[in-house]
Amino acid sequence: MARVAIVTGGTRGIGKAISLALKAEGRTVVANYGGNDDAARAFSDEHGIAVYRWDVGDHHACIDGCIRVTEDVGPVDIVVNNAGITRDGTLARMSYDDWHDVMRINLGGCFNMAKACFPGMVERGWGRIVNIGSINGQAGQYGQVNYAAAKSGIHGFTKALAQEGAKKGVTVNAIAPGYIDTDMVAAVPAPVLEKIVAKIPVGRLGQATEIARGVVFLTSDDGGFVTGSTLSINGGQHMY
Ligand code: CAA
Repeated sequence: MARVAIVTGGTRGIGKAISLALKAEGRTVVANYGGNDDAARAFSDEHGIAVYRWDVGDHHACIDGCIRVTEDVGPVDIVVNNAGITRDGTLARMSYDDWHDVMRINLGGCFNMAKACFPGMVERGWGRIVNIGSINGQAGQYGQVNYAAAKSGIHGFTKALAQEGAKKGVTVNAIAPGYIDTDMVAAVPAPVLEKIVAKIPVGRLGQATEIARGVVFLTSDDGGFVTGSTLSINGGQHMY
């Protein structure tokens, strides 16, 4: 039977590319989304992928959402924690809500989805979790104390949970994208973005499909010996 994969924030941007790539691999893909019904409907109609709306920052919504998915298509074997938001601004301008929303959704979402799906993976002896971190969680970024902290937290979360899953057939890895050609990056003011792109050795923004290829590998049977790792896909912008 085809393995079941949930991609959070899976109807747009990097998440959309991941949903499509996993479907092309023969997975039964379910795309979660947070609020943009029109985009989700259009995505579902075009690609034949079921979409489910819930807020990944809401613990109970994640538990209930994953129960619904299990009832509809079967137990969840693969979770890609991709959903994320930005609320950029220097510390002086950043409100508590800007901080809290980003922590709740970007980092809290990983915890909530793992609580919903990890125990079943352990019980069945196979599972794959991929958390989408960021270059800005590795290196920091001016105007992003909230986002950098949440993404950095994702990298720690990944390494800790990987240790809990290792003997049970469940791998947990992160991908740290650099600047990818998505709506999120397009929202960075043009002069700021130009300076950032000038510092990317490959000389361009990344494509969402380039992140999706990494997810395909990490969620495959071939990826079984890779756990607790972070795959940086950033055009050489940050090397370590
Ligand atoms: N380092 C040091 N100083 C910097 C700086 C930097 N990287 N960037 C800006 N500054 C300085 C400016 O030179 C300016 O100094 P002066 O006032 O002395 O001239 C001062 O900081 C104010 O700069 P801005 O005009 O940019 O400030 P602002 O308040 O208008 O905007 C900001 C602040 C919204 C954070 C804006 O700088 C910005 O959008 N930065 C980009 C943040 C970013 O990269 N976000 C990534 C979004 S995509 C994403 O997150 C996906 C992913 O995973 C990669």
